Amino acid sequence: MSRRVEGVGGNREVPPRSGLGEKADPSVPEEGGPWGKHGFPHGSEPEAKRREIALSAPWLGEREEELVLAVLRSGRLSLGPALDRFELALAARVASPHAAAVSSGTAGLHLAVRLAGLGPGDEVITTPFSFVASANCILYEGATPVFADVDPQTLNLDPNAVEAALTERTKGIVAVDIFGYPAELEELARIAEEHGLALIEDACQALGAEYRGRPLGSFGHPTIFAFYPNKQMTTGEGGAVAVAAEEDWELLKSLSNQGRTDSGEWLTHGHLGFNYRLDDISAAVGLAQLEKLDAILELRGEVAARYGELIESLDGVEAPLPDDEDHRRSWFVYVVRLADELDRNAVMVRLGEQGIASKPYLPSIHLQPYWRERFGTGEGMYPVSESASRHSLALPFHTRLTAGEQERVVDALARAVA
Ligand SMILES: Cc1ncc(COP(=O)(O)O)c(C=O)c1O
Repeated sequence: MSRRVEGVGGNREVPPRSGLGEKADPSVPEEGGPWGKHGFPHGSEPEAKRREIALSAPWLGEREEELVLAVLRSGRLSLGPALDRFELALAARVASPHAAAVSSGTAGLHLAVRLAGLGPGDEVITTPFSFVASANCILYEGATPVFADVDPQTLNLDPNAVEAALTERTKGIVAVDIFGYPAELEELARIAEEHGLALIEDACQALGAEYRGRPLGSFGHPTIFAFYPNKQMTTGEGGAVAVAAEEDWELLKSLSNQGRTDSGEWLTHGHLGFNYRLDDISAAVGLAQLEKLDAILELRGEVAARYGELIESLDGVEAPLPDDEDHRRSWFVYVVRLADELDRNAVMVRLGEQGIASKPYLPSIHLQPYWRERFGTGEGMYPVSESASRHSLALPFHTRLTAGEQERVVDALARAVA
């Protein structure tokens, strides 16, 4: 199946700032245990007088409206040309031969696990320090997740811990680029190759990041992206899997479309598939977002740099790991680490009282109630992950955050940790 790659133009809208008089954007990550929907611990919702600073917000504009309207007017709401264009533009952006768009990052992870043929009896090594979907996808196919602890600096899978977790039943690795910071892809790929394992990369938080000068998605193993509204770019709900081989792309397209074959027969199902389709309205939003992805990433980098300067002088607050030669982060969230003696949850309550949303990013997966109950996991099993979970705090972070808002956040943080 050959497809023409159309470029995407350089639409560079200036983002409206969420400053004076504008309503707070309600779009925030939904993860986060006992914390309220908008990132405020229950009971600490701010007084209405002061404008809340939300955790995240998409940057949508006239171009998104224009492309969505075109889809609506075309009547092709699903499996139409906007979907094809979005897949081609995304593949080009991440330098992958193919990209299959799906209805969410979770759906993409599930399909990647299925594509790798992982199933009952197979062990798959993954990180406990992630959003739960990166481990759940292993369970969906009946394979056995095996956690390996993370590196204390990068918070990504520690390749030594991965090697220590290998058994003769190990058949795969699901690596995550946590907080947009690339995982140790070369070492993980070496381990995978030496032991005949499938390598799947969950880059749901990392669109636009680079490892050794190459974009995530271009390394040949299946790489999954996600487009929930808290992500660098959004399609509303949505995700995608970048793959190198055309036959893998075709299988992903079939699996996401009820296992339909390419015969053109709508009611012929060659595989056990799913309805994981991304609709064309969402794809149109994604096309507009891809056009300005470079601008989005640049602005997020500027917001992160400003935070770095502001928190430099704060005792007990550590900024995220900076980039180095091999790792170029795509800024997804701004997560600080609080000193061990500080009570992170109390800091969150104090921030909430001052109108600042924050989140305990991220709880360790093996300590989630479902995982504890099903697998008997508990404290002390993955100490690096658990320590990061206990002391990390996500601050409001998005493309449109103003310098003034950031100062307010850091002032509030300074008071909260004093
Ligand atoms: C690391 C990681 N994996 C997977 C997902 C799942 O993506 P989605 O919410 O689109 O299903 C997310 C979402 O935040 C994520 O952060």
